[in-house]
Amino acid sequence: MTDTPDAPGPAGAAHEDPQQRIDTSRASSARLYDLYVGGKDHYGVDKDAGTRLAEAFRAEGAIQRIGTGARLFHDRAVRYAAEELGMDQYLDIGVGVPKEPNTHEIAQGLVPSSRVVYVDNDPIVLRHAEALLHSCPEGATDYADADLRRPDEVLSIARRTLAMDRPVALMLCSVLQFVPDDDEVRDVVSRYLVALAPGSCVIFSHVTDDFEPDAWRETERIYAEEGIAANVRPRAVIESFVAGLDLVDPGLVEVHTWRPDGTDLSTEHTHLYGAVGLKRP
Ligand SMILES: C[S@@+](CC[C@H](N)C(=O)[O-])C[C@H]1O[C@@H](n2cnc3c(N)ncnc32)[C@H](O)[C@@H]1O
Repeated sequence: MTDTPDAPGPAGAAHEDPQQRIDTSRASSARLYDLYVGGKDHYGVDKDAGTRLAEAFRAEGAIQRIGTGARLFHDRAVRYAAEELGMDQYLDIGVGVPKEPNTHEIAQGLVPSSRVVYVDNDPIVLRHAEALLHSCPEGATDYADADLRRPDEVLSIARRTLAMDRPVALMLCSVLQFVPDDDEVRDVVSRYLVALAPGSCVIFSHVTDDFEPDAWRETERIYAEEGIAANVRPRAVIESFVAGLDLVDPGLVEVHTWRPDGTDLSTEHTHLYGAVGLKRP
């Protein structure tokens, strides 16, 4: 990746030049994820951290399998929300560096009038947010450079594009492990849920340490060295984050086993639990 500034101009987001904020001396969670899923938007520091992370796991290719599993779950869950739940509004929080198919591409491919608001707080995502704004004419997309831990701010930006009195698919995919405090996660999730209209759903995934705890402790340590606070949790804690929802079948399961469609052929652990839950009336 070059260091050439090419900052996009996302609608609806007041922001400074992301180029000024990108810290190339340390890895970032968005750039590491981009590395895991085979993207090009990362730097040498991310590759170095990625090499150390890969060594923490027993199996070769584990971090790529985790990233791919997370992403393919995202794709299937958005398709499910559009096709089976009739969703046409999405609030995708912790979207990450754009990766096709992005949420709006899946949703608008099925329901062209779909409206999508993306949120992330990493300047590398802001820098590439233009790719998230290519809405089809019938629908709309917006991008907000904002922190998910400020639900009032995020929701006020979302209201510019989404009708919050109608169902919304709230997406919290592979992001809550970056909010280390369990109580804060529960509080933040409940504040989003309160704002959602009846009929809304939550598309959710979270990394777990259930299957290789030592590797995940090492991962947290490496992330901390890079200045990234991460908390990889056991199932019981992750379950508590979605306790207020009615989970659709098969409930909270490892992501590669959630409504498989033949795209994720993992036979080993993908180390994330995922679920789609309906807001209770
Ligand atoms: C692992 S990526 C997930 C990407 C995408 N959701 C997916 O499932 O493919 C996590 C993303 O969450 C973002 N993130 C982490 N903490 C955040 C916060 N407090 N507010 C907003 N975004 C955050 C990171 O910048 C990163 O882009």
